[in-house]
Amino acid sequence: MPGPGNEEIGSPAREQIRKRIAAIVELSAFPLTVQKIISALGKEALTIQALEEVIRHDQSLASKIVSVANSAFYHVQRGVHVNSLDQAILVLGMNTIRNIAMGISIFRIFPLPYMVLKQMWAHSYRVALASGFLASRIPQSDREISFLAGLLHDIGRVVLMSLGDKSAVSGFLYVRGMDIIRREQEVFYCHHMEAGYWFLKGISLPDEITLPVLRHHDVIEKTEHPLIVAPVCIAEGLVSKLSDDESTDGEWSDSVVALATKFSIDQTVLTECMQLLDMEDEFINTFFES
Ligand SMILES: [Fe+2]
Ligand SMILES: [Fe+2]
Repeated sequence: MPGPGNEEIGSPAREQIRKRIAAIVELSAFPLTVQKIISALGKEALTIQALEEVIRHDQSLASKIVSVANSAFYHVQRGVHVNSLDQAILVLGMNTIRNIAMGISIFRIFPLPYMVLKQMWAHSYRVALASGFLASRIPQSDREISFLAGLLHDIGRVVLMSLGDKSAVSGFLYVRGMDIIRREQEVFYCHHMEAGYWFLKGISLPDEITLPVLRHHDVIEKTEHPLIVAPVCIAEGLVSKLSDDESTDGEWSDSVVALATKFSIDQTVLTECMQLLDMEDEFINTFFES
């Protein structure tokens, strides 16, 4: 598989797609929020006050962050109803707010039908929640980075749908499991893991995010950042196993089960993860509407 360190010389058609993805990056007028957040990722440069300041200027983003703080998961933990951005910041903390702000801002730049973005967001948020939860049970993994990698894991599907014929979008949204990868390669000469990797590299996200995106259907023994790749891979499989949503991709395959076993993700942990997804289901389904 093409990837970092073994990039194939692509066919002209494949190179063309890659150039079109680079053009999306170049033409995207990322709001200041995202520019500041991206440049501060992994550094201490962004203070909570600076983050609050940029979010305050984006009403829709601010209200979504307040709704995350009121989702069942945080509500059960804290037992308080959050009414303001100030309170949301206290409940969620800087990293969660940064991740949500980045995820929403990236999804918003793609000119796709609302229903497509809504469904892709719901699937991505489920994988993010599961990935963050599983990472919290894997020693030395990172819950927040695994959440963000999960939130962006299928951004390549959004990228490719935005490049395709508008009338064919639903054809890519409602193809389940591995068939989607075959369909993408037929039409775009690459699959969504590569498209997502190229796009996120283009906006300068670090390898600990871009590599799990590239590897999330590709359960291999040797990869960099295995402690982030693993929870994202397992989460993609688990969400696909649980969901009857037709837009979900992935498989609960023998290799995903073996990966879970390798990282000591047993049935008890999987059951807790499923309970978390269940608890957040209503919030996830309505979140993009607010
Ligand atoms: Fe995927
Ligand atoms: Fe997925």
